[in-house]
Amino acid sequence: MIYPIILCGGAGSRLWPASREMHPKPFIRVDNKENFLQKTFRRATSLPNAGEVSFVTSKNFFFETKNCITEINDTNHPFSILSEPCGRDTLAAIAIAVAHISAKHGENATILVMPSDHLIENPDAYIQAVQEASALAGDGRIVTFGITPTSPETGYGYIESDGNKVLRFIEKPNYEKAVEFTQAAQKQFLWNSGMFCFLATTLQRELKEYASDVYETTSECLAKSSLEKTDHFSHLKIDNKSFQNIRKISFDYAIMEKTKSAAVVPCSIGWRDVGDWKSFSEIGDCDSNNNQTTNDNILINSTNCFIRSTKRKIAAVGVDNLAIIEEPDALLVLNKDNAQDVKKVYEHLKAIG
Ligand code: GDD
Ligand code: MG
Repeated sequence: MIYPIILCGGAGSRLWPASREMHPKPFIRVDNKENFLQKTFRRATSLPNAGEVSFVTSKNFFFETKNCITEINDTNHPFSILSEPCGRDTLAAIAIAVAHISAKHGENATILVMPSDHLIENPDAYIQAVQEASALAGDGRIVTFGITPTSPETGYGYIESDGNKVLRFIEKPNYEKAVEFTQAAQKQFLWNSGMFCFLATTLQRELKEYASDVYETTSECLAKSSLEKTDHFSHLKIDNKSFQNIRKISFDYAIMEKTKSAAVVPCSIGWRDVGDWKSFSEIGDCDSNNNQTTNDNILINSTNCFIRSTKRKIAAVGVDNLAIIEEPDALLVLNKDNAQDVKKVYEHLKAIG
């Protein structure tokens, strides 16, 4: 059995105005059908040996998470939601979920950590890669899924590898380093996809070694948290006070940059991190002018544009390389080359309340 943990507590600030503090990225519909969270759940349950799926999310999104999974969970696949009273980054989210799964399904449970902010377009290759990873995980490894880099990205982790061996893990390098890693001829650098596979007991061992404070505070927090159960569903309400005591750090910095037990499965699974509107605009099919739009919007003498609207009709005339995102109360007009800067709008709005 593989026990997927789906992480869905991040903000997705570069996808404003579709992504908001109260409607974050996992709940954005990707193709007018399913949202990132639902797609991730489908991916988790497509594994032939998928056990109970655990979601770790903010308590503010407990009902939304439960509803959107119930909506598509035709086979009543068992799932649980661990609701966080506040965001403590991915190490805390993973550590508490692993402690919970270990108590429920045993310390030899195989875990698959799955972020809910990317897409995978080759499901068969993904299933194959997870099977390969789970075999390596059985040997006490923390297994990453390596993607061949196509550009220097400062928002990703890089894995210097030799076959399945990890020589070095570098989280979010600066631009110069990212260029060096992307161009490196002899050395093989891969992007970290953000998914991880390991045995529960392996993570407990690594936490004791590299983040013993997190191991201790997580165990205390789990003991104080309360669990509600029905047949196919359970809800772990994470204790507020003790969760706040857990150090806020990402799994990548705390464990992956330090561990000596990392392994990698290099894979071609059609992985896409859809972190901003530029990458979002590359998902669907374009017309002959490389334009893409929802809802019959009008594009005249325009090229390379992406329009996503909810209510109003949008017309774009004589423009190039724009992303136009309309929500009932906000409109974003973006030069796609500045896609990263949308987070400044989000931060500005947060600062002024
Ligand atoms: N429950 C919970 N709580 N989830 C969280 C929290 C939290 O406090 N913070 C982030 N997440 C979720 C996000 O929603 C996302 O699904 C996942 O955890 C990863 O967090 P990100 O914040 O998106 O990480 P990142 O994109 O900066 O970096 C990670 O992913 C890259 C690939 O997309 C790293 O693993 C990089 O090494 C990797 O290259
Ligand atoms: Mg991310």
